[in-house]
Amino acid sequence: ISAQDRAILTLYDDAMHFYHYLLLNTAVGDAALAYLHRRGLDDSTIDTYMLGYAPAGDALFQYFKEKNIDYQLLRDSELFIEWDDGSLHDRFVDRVLFTIRNQSGAPIAFSGRRMSQDDSVAKYMNSPESSIFDKSNELFNLDLAKGSIRKTKSVILFEGFMDVIAAFQTGVTNGVASMGTSLTQKQVQRLGRMAQGITIAYDADTAGQAASLRALNLIEQNSAAKPQILHIPDGLDPDEYVRQKGVEAFQQVLKHNLEDPVAFSLRYFRQDYNLQNQNDIFNYLEQVLPVVAGVKEPLVRQTYLKRLADEFDVSLDGLEEQLRHLLLQKT
Ligand code: CTP
Ligand code: MN
Ligand code: MN
Ligand code: MN
Ligand code: MN
Repeated sequence: ISAQDRAILTLYDDAMHFYHYLLLNTAVGDAALAYLHRRGLDDSTIDTYMLGYAPAGDALFQYFKEKNIDYQLLRDSELFIEWDDGSLHDRFVDRVLFTIRNQSGAPIAFSGRRMSQDDSVAKYMNSPESSIFDKSNELFNLDLAKGSIRKTKSVILFEGFMDVIAAFQTGVTNGVASMGTSLTQKQVQRLGRMAQGITIAYDADTAGQAASLRALNLIEQNSAAKPQILHIPDGLDPDEYVRQKGVEAFQQVLKHNLEDPVAFSLRYFRQDYNLQNQNDIFNYLEQVLPVVAGVKEPLVRQTYLKRLADEFDVSLDGLEEQLRHLLLQKT
C-alpha cells in the first residue's frame, strides 16, 4: 500500500470520527440521531458501527482545512466534489452516514442515507470507487462478522446496511451486505472461502426475490458453499421484520424459513402464473420440472415431485414420466 493510500485511509478514519461526533454531540446531529433511534438502533449499536451525520454546508472540508491537509490529497480522496471553479465541497450533505470498512476494519468509503421521504433525491449516496475502495470486492460488515462466519462456517447475505445492523443488534453477528442487489463474482468467491453455507436473506419484494435467484446461481457457479434462501414473510425487509415482529419472531424465521434452491425456485416461479387456471398449472409445471430434474438425490427429487403432484392433483406417474424425458434430453 502506497504512502498516498495510507494518507487517504487516515482521512476516512478522521472523517468517520468527525461525522460520528457530530451525530452524537452537536445540535445539528439531533434529527439524525432521532432518526436512527426511531429505526430501532440503540446507542451501543450506533457506536459499534460508528454511524454519523454529515450536515449541510462544507463541514468536513472546513475541518480538514483547519488541520492543513494537503489540497491535492483532499481531491484524490473522493470525499469531496470538485466544482468547475476548482473548489472542493462536501460530497455528503444532510445525510445519515454508514461507514464501509475493509476486512481489516479500516474505513474506505461512506454511504449516506437521506432522512426525508422525498423520492426525487436518491435514498442512498455512496462514495465512488477510489484507490482504496474497490466496490465489487467489498462487503459491508465483513470485518465485524468474519470471526462469527469462521466459527459457524456460515454467512448471511443481506441487501442493505440496515438489515445487517438490525440483525447484529439481535445477536445475529454473521451478516454482511452486498450493498444493493448487484452481487459480484468476487464477493461470492470471497464468502465461499470463508464459509460452507451462504444464506441469502434479501428483501421479500420483487426486486429482492429476483436478486435472490441471481445470487443463488452466482453462488452455485462460483463457490463450493451451499446456498440457502431465507424467506422473510409478509413482503418485508429483514430490518422491517425485526422492527415490526420483534427479535423472537426474527429468530424463528431464521430457524424455520430456510429454503433450499429447489424450494425457492418452486416458490419463485409461482408468481408468473395463476395457479387456479389449469393451463397455467401445466405451464408452471413445465417451467419447474427442469429445476426438479437438476436434483441429484433421487429421494429428494421424489419428494418434490410428490409435493407437486399432490398440490396440483396430477398423477405422480405422469410427472415422473415427463421428468424422465427431461433427464434423457440432458444426457
Ligand atoms: N442502495 C444504494 N443506492 C440506492 C438504493 C439502495 O446504494 N439508491 C443500496 C444500499 O446499500 C441499500 C441497499 O442497496 O442498503 C438495499 O436497497 P433498499 O432495499 O432499497 O434499501 P434499504 O437497505 O431497505 O434501505 P432503508 O431500510 O434505509 O430504506
Ligand atoms: Mn479510528
Ligand atoms: Mn430492497
Ligand atoms: Mn431493503
Ligand atoms: Mn429497509
